[in-house]
Amino acid sequence: MAFEFTESENQQIDRLLSCYPSKMSATLPLLHLAQKRNGWIGPDVIEAVARRLELTKIHVADVVSFYSMYHRKPVGRHVISVCRTLCCQLVGQESLSDYLRERLGLGEAMNGTDEKGHFTVEHVECLGACGMGPVAIIDGEYHEHLTVDKLAALMDQLEAS
Ligand code: FES
Repeated sequence: MAFEFTESENQQIDRLLSCYPSKMSATLPLLHLAQKRNGWIGPDVIEAVARRLELTKIHVADVVSFYSMYHRKPVGRHVISVCRTLCCQLVGQESLSDYLRERLGLGEAMNGTDEKGHFTVEHVECLGACGMGPVAIIDGEYHEHLTVDKLAALMDQLEAS
């Protein structure tokens, strides 16, 4: 079934649009809103956003491809974005990545979703918290000074929820 904004989302969008000088300016928040419910941004979401903002689909698709925070494929229930840039690498990012690959059965792949669909792991560039590495964003929330033990505990909690 093609993605459509719900009535309550449309009301939210009307309020958002009143805050911006042009409809185009609301592209990012609309994409966030759509991803929050749909989990990822597929062609049908791009079409719905483009229609709502009176933009071309290619404009919306360009925005989606530019920002790593938009998922262009279906993801698991929880998304773990691990910073792989130098400052985080130097303080332990690789041990986190090794742990994630092993726990989730991803083999040699850096990114992917476990078979049960609980977790999606993606490696991203600098998250802007370089002094607090290693850093990961889990379901939109920053986790700093991560260790394998802290990550394991967080994932256990999420799995149990
Ligand atoms: Fe990891 Fe900047 S290098 S947050």
